[in-house]
Amino acid sequence: MHFSQTTIMFYGLLTLMSIGTGILFINYYLENILPIQWVKTKSTEIADKNIYKKIYSITWNKHPQNIPNYMLIFKFRNCAFRNCKIGEASDETSLSKSDAVLFYHTSLNGKVPAKSANQKWVFVSVESEAYTVTNFLKKEWDNKFDWVSSYRSDADIYFPYGLLARTKIQSEKNYTKIFLQKTKNAAWVVSHCNASSKRNEYMQEMNKTIDVDVFGKCGKNCSYWNDDSCFNDLSKVYKFYLAFENSLCEDYVTEKAYRFYQDGIDLIPVYRGAPNIRNILPEGTFISSLDFSSPKELALYLKHVGSNESLYTSYLKAKDKFVSSLWTQQEMMQTLHCSVCEKLNSGFKRSIKLNLTHWILEKKCHIPTDI
Ligand SMILES: *[C@@H]1O[C@H](CO)[C@@H](O)[C@H](O)[C@H]1NC(C)=O
Ligand SMILES: *[C@@H]1O[C@H](CO)[C@@H](O)[C@H](O)[C@H]1NC(C)=O
Ligand SMILES: *[C@@H]1O[C@H](CO)[C@@H](O)[C@H](O)[C@H]1NC(C)=O
Ligand SMILES: *[C@@H]1O[C@H](CO)[C@@H](O)[C@H](O)[C@H]1NC(C)=O
Ligand SMILES: *[C@@H]1O[C@H](CO)[C@@H](O)[C@H](O)[C@H]1NC(C)=O
Ligand SMILES: *[C@@H]1O[C@H](CO)[C@@H](O)[C@H](O)[C@H]1NC(C)=O
Repeated sequence: MHFSQTTIMFYGLLTLMSIGTGILFINYYLENILPIQWVKTKSTEIADKNIYKKIYSITWNKHPQNIPNYMLIFKFRNCAFRNCKIGEASDETSLSKSDAVLFYHTSLNGKVPAKSANQKWVFVSVESEAYTVTNFLKKEWDNKFDWVSSYRSDADIYFPYGLLARTKIQSEKNYTKIFLQKTKNAAWVVSHCNASSKRNEYMQEMNKTIDVDVFGKCGKNCSYWNDDSCFNDLSKVYKFYLAFENSLCEDYVTEKAYRFYQDGIDLIPVYRGAPNIRNILPEGTFISSLDFSSPKELALYLKHVGSNESLYTSYLKAKDKFVSSLWTQQEMMQTLHCSVCEKLNSGFKRSIKLNLTHWILEKKCHIPTDI
């Protein structure tokens, strides 16, 4: 057999990433930081016995938007179950013969295709449900799906945007020095200026009490904005960062929050988004807008914290006890494919038949009431 260097590198990286993710999960379990239930099944047992009676095929209804093609050319050799293959997206024969069809949340426009007997349909969403409902969901789809993959903790296949683990080594930072270097108050990097959470209006109200500097498409230019160097620069001079989600939905906590749990980012995240954020991020590491009745109240509290070194640095010290890992798109795709394969093997059935509209509306996205 002949492998090209890139192939070897690719699988090498894949293995390393899997090991890395594995270690994080183990850490996470040991420390038991968050009440997230990672779905555990009998699968590994069954897989170990190697009783592969059948090869299952999994097909994407349409090529998912923004997902590069190579992420769909996937072999299942690193999965608990390896007896699956991926069919050609949009190919009718492949679709009708598939054991599972995956529908990306942005590809629900157009006619509902015919569903073969015993086929499993999986709704795959990476955006907030507010976005899905507004733009894509039609009644025809209500009872079509069997499983849901989402950031929501009650999904059949669950993908939080990030995971937190406790850091083993205590940071030896000079927090006094960090505090004294900071000359500015709150920063925000944003690309979508008008979001349903009214975050822009909220920021404008805060700005009447405490200075807020906005970077990105809706504000000033931050060096290579939205990459890590921008955040590292902001971290030197700003005290707070407005980690504002585009919608206020339960469990919808994105990289906007998780990215601050990194060594070298000395900003206190001021979070506005998921109503259940207290169950997701560790206490004392962030400030939540939900704890304040108005943007002004929040801004006054930030002023208070920002002028008291011991109070300010207590947040940074608490935050530095944690480190986050974010899923890359490729890791998500791999894990999704593995999970679907696993569920096909185990014959997974939801306890309640899925009505997608109902499922989405059940855990509502909230309309802001504090602005
Ligand atoms: C920390 O930084 C402050 C201010 O720059 C300095 O006065 C202090 O000596 C430093 N402490 C240590 C332990 O280096
Ligand atoms: C934001 O919304 C306002 C009015 O609702 C509109 O005038 C403006 O063009 C929008 N800006 C962007 C960037 O979409
Ligand atoms: C905040 O208010 C100041 C005036 O006090 C204004 O110059 C600045 O542009 C405002 N910032 C934003 C992001 O709107
Ligand atoms: C923003 O700043 C970067 C780095 O200084 C520069 O390369 C880029 O051209 C700037 N962009 C705009 C829109 O000014
Ligand atoms: C600063 O905050 C600490 C709590 O971290 C508090 O004990 C202290 O009284 C505060 N100092 C001032 C000057 O408000
Ligand atoms: C699905 O749930 C929604 C929201 O509860 C409801 O309006 C709709 O009638 C349900 N659809 C079906 C087909 O039962």
